[in-house]
Amino acid sequence: MSKDTANQLDRISHVVVPGTFDPVTYGHLDVIRRAKRAFPRITVAVAASKGKGGTGPAFSLDERVTILKEALEAEGIGPDIDVQPFEGLLIDFCHDLGATGLIKGLRAMMDFEFELQQANLNSRFAPDIESIVVMSSPEHSYLSSSVVREIASFGGDLSRLVPPCVAAHLEKKYAQRA
Ligand code: PNS
Repeated sequence: MSKDTANQLDRISHVVVPGTFDPVTYGHLDVIRRAKRAFPRITVAVAASKGKGGTGPAFSLDERVTILKEALEAEGIGPDIDVQPFEGLLIDFCHDLGATGLIKGLRAMMDFEFELQQANLNSRFAPDIESIVVMSSPEHSYLSSSVVREIASFGGDLSRLVPPCVAAHLEKKYAQRA
């Protein structure tokens, strides 16, 4: 780590953990829990987002925020974690909050190029915001919201993928669609 990077990390007290969270999974919760260990103030930022493939998220923005808050409470991760929706550029959202760190989870090589591009773009336009990557825990390396939605759509077992309260929202969503 260069001296400059070390100095910048010293100054980070408020970090943003951004994502689409459609819906939140145990993988996301693991990243948030670990971010909490390292930084005093966390805001989880739920992107309005067009979703992967541009089809739009399965859950509305309000639903995704509600489900995330329920999951954080159910998993005992903390009432001190702020959860907020955002639209537009993530760096603008960070500047509005005064957050100077962005935490992203990295599961495998498939995430790397996307995250590198995002980190490079964000640092190009907002050099004051440091992107920090948390390596996914091995037990969550296969997990994604899209896999969870697919399993839910076929009525599969969600118990190792999402907390029970999230599974209940998925079951309701896919029962409505059936
Ligand atoms: O959970 P995801 O879908 O991987 O999260 C991606 C997200 C929402 C963090 C990313 O798409 C994002 O930052 N969107 C906001 C718009 C933005 O700032 N894009 C980056 C520069 S193109």
